[in-house]
Amino acid sequence: MNGSKALYLNCFTSPINAFIVGASRGIGLAFIKQLLQEPCINQVFAGCRSPSEARTLNDLTVNNPSRLHPIQIDLTDEHSVQKSLNHVKQQLNCQPLSLIINCAGFLHNERAGFFPEKKLAEVSPALLQSSLTLHTLGVLLLAKYSEALLARQTHTVFASLSARVGSISDNRLGGWYSYRVSKAAHNMAIKNIAIEWSRRNKHNVCVALHPGSTATELSAPFQHNIAPHKLFSATQAAGYLLSVINQLRPEDTGKFLAWDGQVIPW
Ligand SMILES: NC(=O)c1ccc[n+]([C@@H]2O[C@H](COP(=O)([O-])OP(=O)(O)OC[C@H]3O[C@@H](n4cnc5c(N)ncnc54)[C@H](OP(=O)(O)O)[C@@H]3O)[C@@H](O)[C@H]2O)c1
Repeated sequence: MNGSKALYLNCFTSPINAFIVGASRGIGLAFIKQLLQEPCINQVFAGCRSPSEARTLNDLTVNNPSRLHPIQIDLTDEHSVQKSLNHVKQQLNCQPLSLIINCAGFLHNERAGFFPEKKLAEVSPALLQSSLTLHTLGVLLLAKYSEALLARQTHTVFASLSARVGSISDNRLGGWYSYRVSKAAHNMAIKNIAIEWSRRNKHNVCVALHPGSTATELSAPFQHNIAPHKLFSATQAAGYLLSVINQLRPEDTGKFLAWDGQVIPW
């Protein structure tokens, strides 16, 4: 699929505002590029830790000054999440958000000495804590501070990128303890948020999404294990996921869905 010029979203009947977190690079940046081509998108907020260093995002902002707004956010820091959502609220000037996509995640971090564990003996408190803080606490904080901004009377989507390896029933290989555990906990967070929100807002759909193996910095050390035809570009992955998002109905809330729309068992 050539995602760069395709239009994906007709599930929103009037112009909407979107917030993408993890927008500096990878799949999050690809979402930003594609959303800017969507006629239904009014304003896009692009959350990342260091907006001034996100060069491609800044170039896009220069060309789309009234639609694209980089926002500083660190999902591991509650104060930062609260401040960002306050900033979004001020910019929106009473308009709601209708689409939130959380793309923040990590699998390895050379500077911190983090690499996914091959065996139990490699498990470390620091890697597990960092993984849980970003993947599990991060999505909860994002939901906590964005819920007041979500539209109440019209269709809204809160989607957070998980990974198939976070499925407990799909786990056949083991390893990658911290990533798997934190993504499984992320999935429980999504299910819980979906249950709570469905009581108050019948128009909201809250889902966990698996993008498929995608050529980004996150997967770079492991791409040699993946057949080329099974490795998506970030543009492809974002396009597939926008197609999935476009099909979502309120009864899908609380599901874990792959890039092709298939339900992944917990
Ligand atoms: N790529 C794959 O094959 C694959 C497969 C399955 C699932 N996924 C999931 O898809 C999501 C996106 O992955 P990707 O491949 O696009 O990774 P990526 O290219 O490495 O991008 C990760 C993004 O997360 C952001 N981030 C990291 N820590 C953050 C924090 N504390 N607060 C806010 N943002 C933070 C990064 O921002 P900075 O620039 O500030 O670091 C970056 O924008 C992740 O959740 C990942 O687990 C990816």
